[in-house]
Amino acid sequence: MNHAAPVIPIAPIAARAPIWDQLVRPEHVHGSLYTDPAIFQEELRKIWYRTWVYVGHESEVPKANDFVMKSIGPEPIIMTRDRENKINLLHNRCPHRGNRVCMSEKGSARSFTCPYHGWTFANDGQLKGYPFPSGYEGADRSELGLGRVARVASYKGFVFGSFADEGPTLLEHLGAAKDSIDLLCLNSPEGEVEITAGFLKHKVKSNWKFLVENETDGYHPSFVHASIFEVAQSGIGSLYSSDSTAVSRYMGNGHSENDLRPEFRKRDIPMSWFNTTAERLPAYVASMNTTYGIDKAREIMIDGTPHTMIFPNLFIAEIQLFVIQPLALNETVQHVTALQFKGAPDLNRRMRQQTMGSVGPAGFLLADDAEMYERTQLGVQASNPEWLFLGRGIHRERTDENGHLIGDATDETPSRGIWRHYRSMMEAA
Ligand code: FES
Ligand SMILES: [Fe+2]
Repeated sequence: MNHAAPVIPIAPIAARAPIWDQLVRPEHVHGSLYTDPAIFQEELRKIWYRTWVYVGHESEVPKANDFVMKSIGPEPIIMTRDRENKINLLHNRCPHRGNRVCMSEKGSARSFTCPYHGWTFANDGQLKGYPFPSGYEGADRSELGLGRVARVASYKGFVFGSFADEGPTLLEHLGAAKDSIDLLCLNSPEGEVEITAGFLKHKVKSNWKFLVENETDGYHPSFVHASIFEVAQSGIGSLYSSDSTAVSRYMGNGHSENDLRPEFRKRDIPMSWFNTTAERLPAYVASMNTTYGIDKAREIMIDGTPHTMIFPNLFIAEIQLFVIQPLALNETVQHVTALQFKGAPDLNRRMRQQTMGSVGPAGFLLADDAEMYERTQLGVQASNPEWLFLGRGIHRERTDENGHLIGDATDETPSRGIWRHYRSMMEAA
């Protein structure tokens, strides 16, 4: 097979509207996709401000009037639970002169008062009042509330927002990725995840798409993460080798995963996915047995949790949740937290500890990846070769029983799928 990219001259992007099929090909992507400011602006419009984007989890606002600061791409969003217990996603931008109305990361508030001229908004976004109201005689207050994210929907506590009034429903967008959320929740004795451990934020000087691709790139762990695998005596490295029976999968709509279950099933040891044993977590195992019965609980505890990238910004990383937030063309924040399972305090404590060790301020795992993101961004800013090659494993790509494309553990099947979806979104009007 000839892997050299076909030579087709590409005019500078500013000189023409991008022709996406000339930038995204089945086995190659053009370097300008990571470096062109016009493309980044177009992505905001066609992806981030259109599709369903993960915002937060209902457990982050457990009580009426709780709020937490979130985002959709670079846009600041306040997620509130109003006094009717409804979840709202509000733009953090005063409709008067545009000031931010909320500066706290989280808290409890029935209303937000803009610091500039004192307009006050209820936590469902409605304007409650403004000082010296005689100046606004005849104004329609219902038109002067905080901007609301057009569509808000949640699945098993995971709250998503879309700026588009119309489009696929959240369930249609999630498609097969819904099964990953189901699988994750099954690992809780109460069937629910809680996001209560707090977030760390890591900023990298890299385009957001390098992060999305990397989350289910099973090719790099053996090299980039070799040191932490060795220090932690973790069995993870072997899951991403050419001998592994794990598969990479593209699930449609931009969602992808590394399905490690074949390897865990071969081992046939409950909790080996967490690099531990059932004996070390007696309370958790007992609760799982009570909820699901011994056989089903055993199956769940062998399979473990998913490793799934839900396009464009939610990464379920076995024991962590990552949220990807692009700020600029080459500036991206990863928000990271330890997953917590309702009814599993002993497992939760260990998940928090492992999270600190792997992706905390002194953790290797995320630091190793971050170094690669930044070096890749620097690399791709150089001009030659123009095209990046994504052909690994295309000759052995196959379809599973659900019609999804699968490749070997280290193949680039997920990345190719992500780019096909990207192209279809960017080609839309
Ligand atoms: S900018 Fe918010 S009240 Fe004036
Ligand atoms: Fe990595």
